[in-house]
Amino acid sequence: MKKTWWKEAVVYQVYWRSFYDSDGDGYGDLQGLIEKLDYIKHLGIDVIWLNPCYESPDKDNGYDISNYYTIMDKAGTMKAWETLLDEVHKRDMKLIMDLVVNHTSNKHPWFLESRSSKDNPKRDWYIWRDKPNNWRSYFTPSAWEYDETTEQYYFHSFAVEQPDLNWKNPEVREEIYKMMRFWLDKGIDGFRLDAIALLAKPEGFPDAANPNDIRYLTNNPGLHDYLREMNERVFKHYDIFTVGEVAFASPEEGLKYVAEDRHELHTLFHFEVCDEMPSWEPLRFKQIQKRWYEALWGKGWNSQFLNNHDHTRQVTRYGNDKEYRLESAKLLGTMLHTLPGTPYIYQGEEIGMTGVRFSSIDDYNDIAMKNKYEEEVAKGRDPQEVLESLQPLSRDNSRTPMQWDDSRHAGFTTGTPWIKVNPNYKDINVKQALEDPNSVYHYYRKLIQLRKENPVMVYGTFRDYTETEPYIYAYTRELDSERWLIVLNHCDHANDYELPAPLASYKRELLLGNYEDIQEHGAVLHMRPHEARIYKLV
Ligand code: GLC
Repeated sequence: MKKTWWKEAVVYQVYWRSFYDSDGDGYGDLQGLIEKLDYIKHLGIDVIWLNPCYESPDKDNGYDISNYYTIMDKAGTMKAWETLLDEVHKRDMKLIMDLVVNHTSNKHPWFLESRSSKDNPKRDWYIWRDKPNNWRSYFTPSAWEYDETTEQYYFHSFAVEQPDLNWKNPEVREEIYKMMRFWLDKGIDGFRLDAIALLAKPEGFPDAANPNDIRYLTNNPGLHDYLREMNERVFKHYDIFTVGEVAFASPEEGLKYVAEDRHELHTLFHFEVCDEMPSWEPLRFKQIQKRWYEALWGKGWNSQFLNNHDHTRQVTRYGNDKEYRLESAKLLGTMLHTLPGTPYIYQGEEIGMTGVRFSSIDDYNDIAMKNKYEEEVAKGRDPQEVLESLQPLSRDNSRTPMQWDDSRHAGFTTGTPWIKVNPNYKDINVKQALEDPNSVYHYYRKLIQLRKENPVMVYGTFRDYTETEPYIYAYTRELDSERWLIVLNHCDHANDYELPAPLASYKRELLLGNYEDIQEHGAVLHMRPHEARIYKLV
C-alpha cells in the first residue's frame, strides 16, 4: 500500500461560525480560529478542514457562494485568512478548504447574468428549461424554480437560492479550475469537495418513478469524466489532499472516485451511515464497514466519521449522551480511530459535546429543517409534532457554539451568539476537559498519539470477528508482525466476550482503554457498559 501523509493524518473540522468569536459580533471568525490553533495542535491534529468562508448571502451558512475569490465579512478578511494559513503551517499542520462547485448563490454575478436574458453569454452556465420534471431537491419539494424574467425554470439540487452550475459547459469548468488554482497557489493543502457526486445530470431530466427517493440527483453518467479532467487540469500538479462528499454511493460506486489508478479524488465521505442509518444498528454498521473495506482496501482510501456540521453529534445519535456520555464518547472515538481510513473529528466531539433540542422553531437556523417544517405544516400537520419529528436529525444539533468554559455563552462570544448555546455548557466545556485527566479530550489525545506511533493503525489489514454479535464489536488490525485487537461493548449493559480460538492463544497487552483496572487474563473478556479496549497481541 502506498504511504501518504493524508492516510496517516487526523483531520479536525472547524465550523468557524460556531468555533470562537474574536470580535463580539456573535459569529465565530478566522481570527478566533487563529487564537485557538494551539488548542487544536495540542490535541495532535494534522489537518484542519475549514467550512466555507467565501463571500456569501449565507442562506445555507456559506454553501451559497457569491464570490469565490473573497472572504465573507462575518469570517473576516483575506488578510486574516492569509494569517490563518501561515499560522496553521507554522504549527506544522495543514489546511484544506471546503469548496462548493456544484452550485453558486443566486446572487453570484454569473447567475445574475444568466437569468437576465435567454441570449446572455452566461445563460448556459446554469440549467434552464421550459418545464420542470418531477424531481425534489434536498431542501425543497421541487428542484426547479420559475424565473419570471425569461419565463423559464432553473435547476437547484438544494435551496432555491443555490442554482446548480451547468458542468456540461466547458467555460464553466475552465472558470472553476482557474479558481481552484487561485487557492492552491496561495498554498492550501487541499479541498473538501462539497456535493461533488451531483455535478453530472442525466440527459433530458426524465421524471423519476419515485420522486421522494432523491438518488437521481447523484452519481450520474459523465461525472467521472469531470473528476478526471479536474485532476488532470488542477489536482495532480500539487501535493494536496482531496476528499469528496459522495452521497448515495455503494462501495463499488465509491471506488470509482478514489481508486488510485483512476486519478480522480484521494478519499471520500460515503453516507451509508450518516444519511441512511438514523440510529445505532450494530449489525448493519459492521456490514457497511466490511463491504467498504473489501471494496477499497489496497485500491483506494476511505474516511471514518460519524458526525459533521450536517449530522447530529455522534454521542447523542449513536451513543449514550446521558449516564454513559464519557464512556460512550470515548468508545466511538476508539472505533473511528482504529477502523481503516482517515479519522475526522468534528469540533466539540473531542469534549463529548451533545445534540440539542430547542423548544421553538424560531431558535433553529438550519435551512433544511426550516423548509421541511414549513412544507409539513402547510399540509395541515400539527406544528409541535412536526418540530419534534425534525429535532433529532436537525443540522443545528451540531452547529451550536463550541463550549469553551462555564462563563456566559460558554465563552464563545462576548456578544449574542448567532445560534443558542447548548444549555449543558456548564458541565461540558473545554476548560473542564483540559483540567480533568479522565476527560474525552485527554483520551482523544492518547488515541491520536497512538496512531502517530503505530503504522498498524493506519496501514494494518482489518478483520471483524463479531459479524453476528449484537453488542460486541471485536476486530483486528495487522501489519507485518504487529497484531492489534480492538474490543468494543457498544451497549448500556455489561457483556462477556469469549475470544475465538485464534485470538485467545496470544498474550494481551492493553494499550488503551476507557475504564481503569482491567485485570483479566483468561479467554473471556468482561466488558462493562460502553467499554473500549485496544490490545496488542504478542
Ligand atoms: C453539503 C454541505 C451542506 C450544504 C450542502 C449544499 O451537503 O455539507 O452543509 O447544505 O452541501 O451545499
